[in-house]
Amino acid sequence: MSIVIEPIKPLIGGRVTVDKAHLTDPEVIAAIRAALEERGVLVFPEIDLSDDEQLALTDALGGRGNYNQRVPGSDVSAKDVYKITLDRSVNNEPDYVLGTFFWHVDGATMDLPLPKATLLSARTLSDAGGSTEFANLYAAYDGLSTEDKRLYEGMKVIHTVEASVRPVFAVPSQERLDRWRAIAHAMEHPLVWTHADGRRSLLLGSHADGIVGMPNPHGRALLWRLQQWAAQPDFVYTHHWQVGDLVLWNNQGLMHRVVPYTDTGRVMHRTTLAGHEKPGQVAAEGSFERLLEVG
Ligand SMILES: [Fe+2]
Repeated sequence: MSIVIEPIKPLIGGRVTVDKAHLTDPEVIAAIRAALEERGVLVFPEIDLSDDEQLALTDALGGRGNYNQRVPGSDVSAKDVYKITLDRSVNNEPDYVLGTFFWHVDGATMDLPLPKATLLSARTLSDAGGSTEFANLYAAYDGLSTEDKRLYEGMKVIHTVEASVRPVFAVPSQERLDRWRAIAHAMEHPLVWTHADGRRSLLLGSHADGIVGMPNPHGRALLWRLQQWAAQPDFVYTHHWQVGDLVLWNNQGLMHRVVPYTDTGRVMHRTTLAGHEKPGQVAAEGSFERLLEVG
């Protein structure tokens, strides 16, 4: 076998040593897929993948998603590779990138199966900031008391793009909101997601805007408390990047955020592994507005 995967922390993280020439061999891909479930986030230190090699790995793992073309700032010339940077000449929607300073799950406000995994390659780093943090939402569920597990079972959460951009723009312009709403939906997801394999995780992030049937302050307070719970040190791995690192994480069971940076030189190349599971559906007409009223 041309691959070795060592745990980084007891509840999260795996460091992968692999012969690049064998990266897409079937047994290597099977080992990566299994480790993605067990470890949540996998680091391939300084593996230096080209875009084509990253796409080949993405396809071998199960197939690329087309989410990249839906998000603002996509570069259609670099098909299926999304460049994350604050440099406006590379990505004309750096505001979207600023939203990644806050805990989130990729694709939570799209009416699509949730992306299974995200692959990120470091091309140019920032002088300060820019590390990426990952929090294990399976561990966050497993660690709850039996009483809390029972309490949260069946709760529905409304996820909105408005909530995810609220920390960036307190009052976004109508034009900006229209642009965001054209690619996003208010989604109603279960708070406790029972996956197809029977495992359970919480589904949280800055996009979680309220709990169905609960007054806004109560719902949001619970969501914030759970987000803090899920981000406790034992559940979190922080990746300090080196140029050429590839990090692959299970987007369906982890939330992530970047440590704030201002350097417009930082560039990361992202590809997305398509998902097949859809935990929720588009929220019922008016449910978002109702949430606002009860607050
Ligand atoms: Fe993200």
